[in-house]
Amino acid sequence: NMAAGSFPCLNLCWVSCMCLTLQVEETLKPFMLSMKKLREISSRFTKEMDNGLDKKKHQKAAVKMLPTFVRAKPDGSERGDFLALDLGGTNFRVLHIRVEDKKILKVDSQICAIPQEIMQGTGHELFDHLAKCLGEFLESQKLKEQKLPLGFTFSFPCEQTEIDKSILIRWTKGFSCSGVEGKDVVQLLKDAIHKRGDYDISSVVMVNDTVATMMSCNQQEHEDPDCEIGMIIGTGTNACYMEDMKNVKRCEETEGQMCINTEWGGFGDKSPLSDPGALDDILTDFDKEVDETSINPGVHIFEKMISGMYLGEIVRLVLVELTNNNLLFEGKVTVRLDTKHTFETKHMSFIEGARVDQEVIDTIQDLLKVRCSEDDARVVSLVCDTISSRSAHLCAAALAAIANRIRLNKAKDNLKTAVGVDGTVYKKHPNFRHKLEDAVAFLAPECDLKFYISEDGSGKGAWVSGVHFCKSLGACACVSMREGVCDCVCV
Ligand code: GLC
Repeated sequence: NMAAGSFPCLNLCWVSCMCLTLQVEETLKPFMLSMKKLREISSRFTKEMDNGLDKKKHQKAAVKMLPTFVRAKPDGSERGDFLALDLGGTNFRVLHIRVEDKKILKVDSQICAIPQEIMQGTGHELFDHLAKCLGEFLESQKLKEQKLPLGFTFSFPCEQTEIDKSILIRWTKGFSCSGVEGKDVVQLLKDAIHKRGDYDISSVVMVNDTVATMMSCNQQEHEDPDCEIGMIIGTGTNACYMEDMKNVKRCEETEGQMCINTEWGGFGDKSPLSDPGALDDILTDFDKEVDETSINPGVHIFEKMISGMYLGEIVRLVLVELTNNNLLFEGKVTVRLDTKHTFETKHMSFIEGARVDQEVIDTIQDLLKVRCSEDDARVVSLVCDTISSRSAHLCAAALAAIANRIRLNKAKDNLKTAVGVDGTVYKKHPNFRHKLEDAVAFLAPECDLKFYISEDGSGKGAWVSGVHFCKSLGACACVSMREGVCDCVCV
């Protein structure tokens, strides 16, 4: 329906234009999901969440629903100095954080790139690289002699047995370092630091980026209720939320709450419990190709339909198909157009945010080395819009399921809650967030969700989570050494 009416017929005769329009629409149709379909997907997601929380089924579940050992949201009394590490995409960030008076202050930070060879090299190379970056940062901050506690935001699916013990289930988002899956990543980091021997760290707390985002959202000042959901829509996508322990059947305890990392990126993956996969009926040939040519075929299917790492590639494959069918670029598939990853999600954001003008035409020509007419540019824009809309709508379906779950847990007719969000797709794409929010309002009308963009949440939140965990144990953590005196929290 988005396509109808808005399609251009500038330089073509009306009849041939209508015919082209229909053919383009035909190609794009499988991406357009009705609200009825989205509702269905939302209920399938609810079922997958149940499987993931179940005592017996969870090991085979596609949606992992991982316990995080974060049991409560921060209450504002947290304070101290901390180091935060943030690994989740192509960059690794090291931050020195100070928390006081309900505020999280970033004292300083540094970014280290993770080159492709390291992302796909050995685990030792990766952790040595992280330890080296951290060492350089401490050196520059003159912190090497101190033994600071460290919050490690590690944004990959991990089976956490304790807050500082985290077994990597599998790599996602283009990482494939050997010898890490099935191992405790906290230990691997500690080993790499000890091997260097030039500095040391004290306790380590591990969290997922969704958890860090939810936690830091609660540190932001807003009048709304607490953030009970954390969501990332960036290179990858995922969400966490506060669940009642009595529903977390995979854990023995029944009292209180725990934050659950859903790892919703795995929704749609085939598993002994979901075969065929829960999204098989809506997967297009383009999605299948993106999956098959990725470094982890069959894994994180939902993420591959939604997140920044893959959206541009889906668009490119559709453009190739349209060109092969003579509907675009004079039917000429250039080498660039035919090359993987030449069209990125950031280009979609640019094209969708602009009016089709010479700059857009030039950008497309430049990127894909094609001859692009104004009509072509409009088709490209329409393809981008269709793919990003589907992404937003699919996220909405899963988010609506989570919101409804929280509402039912509280036995309320209407729920008002807040979501902390981070990630470039949500933050930088011109229409994504509106489409997502509109669709959630439609799919979960009893839930009134407020969205808060978290600034740097993924790094800062690790700290809050850590401190809070100590508190929940009634333990004390030494959070900084000032002139040889240990500054503690959790008193
Ligand atoms: C991937 C990871 C997940 C993370 C998400 C967003 O889906 O598996 O742990 O939260 O990306 O970064």
